[in-house]
Amino acid sequence: MPHPLRITADTSVLVLTGAGISAESGIPTFRGAGGFWRGRDAMSLATPEAFAKDPKLVWEFYGERRTHALGCEPNPAHVALVQLEQRLGDRFLLITQNVDGLHRRAGSQRMVEMHGRLFETKCSNPRCPRHEGFPDRVNPKRVPSCDLCGANLRPNVVWFGEAIESDAMDRALSFMEEAARGHWVFLAVGTSGAVMPAAMMVDMARRRGAETVLVSLDGADNSRAFDQVHHARAGEVLPRLLAV
Ligand code: OAD
Repeated sequence: MPHPLRITADTSVLVLTGAGISAESGIPTFRGAGGFWRGRDAMSLATPEAFAKDPKLVWEFYGERRTHALGCEPNPAHVALVQLEQRLGDRFLLITQNVDGLHRRAGSQRMVEMHGRLFETKCSNPRCPRHEGFPDRVNPKRVPSCDLCGANLRPNVVWFGEAIESDAMDRALSFMEEAARGHWVFLAVGTSGAVMPAAMMVDMARRRGAETVLVSLDGADNSRAFDQVHHARAGEVLPRLLAV
């Protein structure tokens, strides 16, 4: 078991999470054994072009993910991050690539959901007011259409080739600039370091003096950029690492 990280009253912590943090809740990761993208073509399910070509297939994929995620609960890793946030207040920020809503359900508040939210729907027409997204838990039987403009509705998630939530990098960067005035930690959990721009955050953090820590069962493509790497399950090591 790893030693707890040195987190004092003056430490700031920026956490980046990926699919691995939800694995122990029963949500499959994207890559690796049992991953969502194993045996599936991400480009035919998670791109704007895929949705334009076959919106029914894309909705089936996201509808099934909604149904599955509704049956899953946050695990001790999600809870450990909530407890750390309660301890650090504004010296804590969570950036997640996950759309499953488990951080929110666990109680995280200072959070950026950079790949959107599975339990939101939006209009596919960028000029429609409903393009902003609205809460929706339904697994639709047919492709839903917009009440206002008639265009197809789509899940409010970020697909390959699309820009991430507009304020995500700004919030990460301004947090880093502030944190760099003192001791701070960049902690990545359950992410394979394969998808930009999340994968480059560790380099941004290093340049600003962060102690960098990775918790990932199989490591990550960018493992070498971290000061500490823990090949372990997040739900088992995070409570210990964060001493919560
Ligand atoms: P990946 O599926 O690429 O990586 C998950 C990582 O979590 C792997 O490195 C695993 O080793 C690790 N892991 C698995 N179980 C774990 C556990 N119990 N505890 C700790 N680590 C564990 O997921 P992401 O990096 O989040 O984007 O993927 C990034 C993006 O690529 C996703 O947001 C998604 C995907 O394609 C889109 O859909 C646009």
